[in-house]
Amino acid sequence: MKAFDISIIGATGAVGAELIRLLESSRIPVSRLRLIASGNSSGRQSNFREEVCIVEPLREVDDIKSDIVFFSAGGAVSAAFGPRFAAQGALVIDNSNAFRMDPDVPLVVPQVNPSALAVRPRSGIVANPNCSTIQLVRALRPLVKAFDVHQIILATYQAASGGGLVGIDELLNGTRSALDGRAGPSAERFPFPLAFNAIPQVGEISPEGVTVEEHKLVQESRKILGVPDLRLTSTCVRVPVMNGHSEAVYLEFEEPVRLEQVHDLLAKEPGVRLYADGIREGYPMPRFLEDPAEVHVGRVRLNPGDPCGLWIWVVADNLQVGAALNALLIAQLSIANNLIGGT
Ligand SMILES: NC(=O)c1ccc[n+]([C@@H]2O[C@H](COP(=O)([O-])OP(=O)(O)OC[C@H]3O[C@@H](n4cnc5c(N)ncnc54)[C@H](OP(=O)(O)O)[C@@H]3O)[C@@H](O)[C@H]2O)c1
Repeated sequence: MKAFDISIIGATGAVGAELIRLLESSRIPVSRLRLIASGNSSGRQSNFREEVCIVEPLREVDDIKSDIVFFSAGGAVSAAFGPRFAAQGALVIDNSNAFRMDPDVPLVVPQVNPSALAVRPRSGIVANPNCSTIQLVRALRPLVKAFDVHQIILATYQAASGGGLVGIDELLNGTRSALDGRAGPSAERFPFPLAFNAIPQVGEISPEGVTVEEHKLVQESRKILGVPDLRLTSTCVRVPVMNGHSEAVYLEFEEPVRLEQVHDLLAKEPGVRLYADGIREGYPMPRFLEDPAEVHVGRVRLNPGDPCGLWIWVVADNLQVGAALNALLIAQLSIANNLIGGT
């Protein structure tokens, strides 16, 4: 089997670290792994399989010479370097929102729309969706396929790790300060202190009052599910959870649905773990997720006042399912489809 030269931009971040770990335990043969970050992390060391990798500063990378380049360093870095590295022959797998709605860039969740990656995109770039979108579309896929959906309304409960390492530190330090009765550190990643709080704003708010995260959920879900007129609306909330996003999702169908059929569809969906009567007791919670590679669905119930209405509660590890694991699965799918060179 071929081996692949792989680079990770943003290797020292929350997603980058998870990606290194998942790549290490994957079956992808790696001929060389380049770890790249900002100048602040230059020289840091990280073990990968039998090798010690030394983090390089991005500004010193001229010709990338990699088969696959993962970007996890924010939209500005992806926009500046993604097309350049793609033009040098790499398949770029981008975790940021820089290219997600670009018509020349497939937006891929391998369990949902693998056919979007049947051929190598002309742009040389594949986009990884937003974390809250990935878990949502993975839970929605069998339901949207089986039934006519009138509209979907959801609220998200998003963890601090969605704001990267700074977000995690901000929650930890803010919690310690509040418990010690001290004024907390000033909010940097989030608009207000997150400890003991719930912030109904994830990203900037548009003049219409919609946040960036709420906008992304609509646009990206439509593109991935292939339903351009999908009616979906949300309120995205940052909560003081360390890791793991939760979503309360209300689906309104055109016709009444049977709960048994919904259970059956979700129970059979690969990568979805269902918590429902007779299958698995209880309900999923971000702090106690058994398998961070799966999308956990519970509280599945019909609206007693409307047989066309269904509630589900969807929880997933945003750093894995919502970012690093999806990116790795995109790489595996690209290799399986012979879209990448290798040696
Ligand atoms: N966290 C999530 O749940 C999640 C989910 C989906 C997608 N994403 C996306 O994934 C990306 C990374 O998120 P994260 O949570 O891992 O953030 P993070 O913990 O803040 O890590 C950011 C990474 O980017 C690097 N970086 C920053 N500026 C750079 C520059 N100018 N040049 C080179 N490297 C630079 C940092 O390097 P230094 O350590 O040297 O500063 C670090 O490795 C973002 O685009 C985010 O939107 C995140």
